[in-house]
Amino acid sequence: MSTRDKHETRPVAEMLVHSPTDFRVDGAIYTDQALFAAEMDRIFGTTWVYVAHESEVPQAGDYKTTQIGLRPVIVSRASDGRIHVMLNRCRHRAGAVCRESQGNTKLFTCKYHGWTYRVDGSLNAISMRAGGYPSGVDASSLGLQQVARVESYRGFIFASMALVGPSLTEHLAPVLPYLDHQIDHSPVGRISVQRGTHRALYQGNWKFQAENSTDGYHGNFVHQSFWKIMGRFGNEGGQHGNYAETDMAKIMQRREEGRTLGFANGHGILEYPLPGGGLDAMRRGPHAHYMQLMDGAYTPERLLKIMPQYNLWIFPNLGVLLDQIRVVQPLAVDRTEVTLQFYDLDGVPEAYNQERFDGYERFFGPASFGSPDDVEMFAMNQVGLQAGEMQWLRLDRGLQREQILPDGTRQGHPSDETPQRAFHRKWFELMAAANASHACETSTKEACA
Ligand code: FES
Repeated sequence: MSTRDKHETRPVAEMLVHSPTDFRVDGAIYTDQALFAAEMDRIFGTTWVYVAHESEVPQAGDYKTTQIGLRPVIVSRASDGRIHVMLNRCRHRAGAVCRESQGNTKLFTCKYHGWTYRVDGSLNAISMRAGGYPSGVDASSLGLQQVARVESYRGFIFASMALVGPSLTEHLAPVLPYLDHQIDHSPVGRISVQRGTHRALYQGNWKFQAENSTDGYHGNFVHQSFWKIMGRFGNEGGQHGNYAETDMAKIMQRREEGRTLGFANGHGILEYPLPGGGLDAMRRGPHAHYMQLMDGAYTPERLLKIMPQYNLWIFPNLGVLLDQIRVVQPLAVDRTEVTLQFYDLDGVPEAYNQERFDGYERFFGPASFGSPDDVEMFAMNQVGLQAGEMQWLRLDRGLQREQILPDGTRQGHPSDETPQRAFHRKWFELMAAANASHACETSTKEACA
């Protein structure tokens, strides 16, 4: 029996080792085809999955296509203003009825035999129907299949394939304040996605991007060239987050400040504090006009919460960073698409959004210092995993200094793997739900709680 075969027959619960002194995951969770298929059902088929921002479909007839796991879906706005999320699959013989990534339409037309559907998913017409079908065919039951539950929070649209389960706000609860902080960088509390989408494909498992988005450990190494450029040129090419330093020693020192957080629902945070000098320095800095708007909109106490830099990961597929919405889209066990969308802050001068956009492109764009290097690392991880004789990946950095806060949230140093452990705890909870008692046999009571 090959190493791979052994993985496929091993219970999921045996693929995680977690205790107060140890945290490892089995490499098979990134390579096993059967586990990937199970993820599409047990994770993407049960929990809330981010699908779109409302500003992407502002008008009646607007739509975008995306996926929930591997399921193709259409997100649309109907004539009554309601948002619909429905499977992109014709009721006749399964053709995808919409092949565009985004647009506006009155009807979706299946190209195979011409059935048409309205923007709310209801069936408009069966082509050549007269005499072609039994008289009892009920057209009202032949609309596109609506996804079971759709809810929005401040413009972020999520969908769940599960008829029952926690509400969206229950799912998001521990990170709602942080999502509010991100949105409230706008003095009117609203953001807009309107500058298109960067798509990056990599030959690696989807969980590597999920782990990376709150990983404060890798940046000192993968992105070292970027920090050197910052040290030499500062922010001349545009703002990047709250970084305003031009002194390499201070840049590296600042990367030691802040914290990571891991939440029970699998969500995580990487947080860096305000730049040196705090709000007053920002008020005197190059973005004084923006700070005037923020001072007019929020109290100083609220600004101290809003203005630090947060990388927020919402389990399983959404990252909300200071300037972007990041979505990880599994395509196969070893193939993933990452979409990055810059968002504008409503209510600020265009010049400020443009400066943010310049900074975003410099670090996250296709020819930038950040994202292209990251996805290369994910592909290298997948290469390394082909040495399947080695079973474990370590995610125990900072375990010994992790604090458990009164509400159960775990807090670590900014370079600790606290958010990644939270992600994997939730991953294993969902994947091993049928074997929950077995999972706890290999762990401590504290870790299982
Ligand atoms: Fe859509 Fe036949 S598959 S009309």
